[in-house]
Amino acid sequence: MTEHETIRVERQDRVAWIHLDRPEALNALNAQLMREVVAVAKELDADDGVGAIVVTGSERAFAAGADIKEMATKSTAEMRADGHFDAWLEFADVEKPVIAAVSGYALGGGCELALMCDIILAADTATFGLPEVGLGVIPGIGGTQRLVRAVGYPKAAEIILTGRRVGAEEAERIGLVSRVVAADALLEEAGKVAAGIAAKSLPALRAAKAAMDAALEVPLTEGLALEAERFTGLFDTADQKEGMAAFSEKREPRFQHR
Ligand code: HXC
Repeated sequence: MTEHETIRVERQDRVAWIHLDRPEALNALNAQLMREVVAVAKELDADDGVGAIVVTGSERAFAAGADIKEMATKSTAEMRADGHFDAWLEFADVEKPVIAAVSGYALGGGCELALMCDIILAADTATFGLPEVGLGVIPGIGGTQRLVRAVGYPKAAEIILTGRRVGAEEAERIGLVSRVVAADALLEEAGKVAAGIAAKSLPALRAAKAAMDAALEVPLTEGLALEAERFTGLFDTADQKEGMAAFSEKREPRFQHR
């Protein structure tokens, strides 16, 4: 895997970790960090030795947003030419399960990056928010869309239009995060969740994620048809045969991830 300046990448068996690593800017998402995260995520997605990806930051900040200093003097045309939006779409298109392990600030683009992940585990010290209207802009990498889908319009509207911060406990109560854990247990817990997922059949994980993604995009009838298609499609995989044989034989499955 290539060397990076703004992230660190680690592998533990079938789990890959992407550590955001720009401590001097609280992991603000500048163009380089975005390029590195997206490129690595795509590499890991294509690697059948990886079953789940964890994205995390530091204790103080998951990410404090897009890099304000980098954007401050740009024009509309320059922002549109930047490719921020398409690049992050590629991250959101990763087919494997992605877990955000969030400690400290997850503001603006940092909160939006967490919302691109399938599961958000939050330390009890985590703080979420979309403060963009206070900077004269709006959330730009999915916040207005994914927060509304995650927590419903009235809550999302209150959070986005006031720009207020949301603590971990409230974030869990409203469905913005999957679960809150003690700060000192965050990485261990994220590792456990990721390893548990990565031990499951990879074709099944991909199919489950694709079907769930469809739930956010298409009408119910179409989503149900897509689910049935993906469900039946798994019956020609080695893992389905192994998984169901293991059940009958009262043993753990040995998946080949194909
Ligand atoms: C650039 C940032 C930054 C950011 C922090 N820093 N956030 N630099 N972009 N988003 C830098 C600070 O300038 C400072 O650098 C250093 O990180 C430490 O931050 P402090 O502010 O000194 O720390 P603290 O007082 O603890 O406050 C932490 C904070 C605050 C509350 C998180 O930094 C903050 O409000 N950050 C901005 C949050 C935000 O508005 N995010 C939304 C961005 S817009 P120096 O060199 O001064 O020490 C966005 C749009 C997404 O995300 C759409 C993209 C297309």
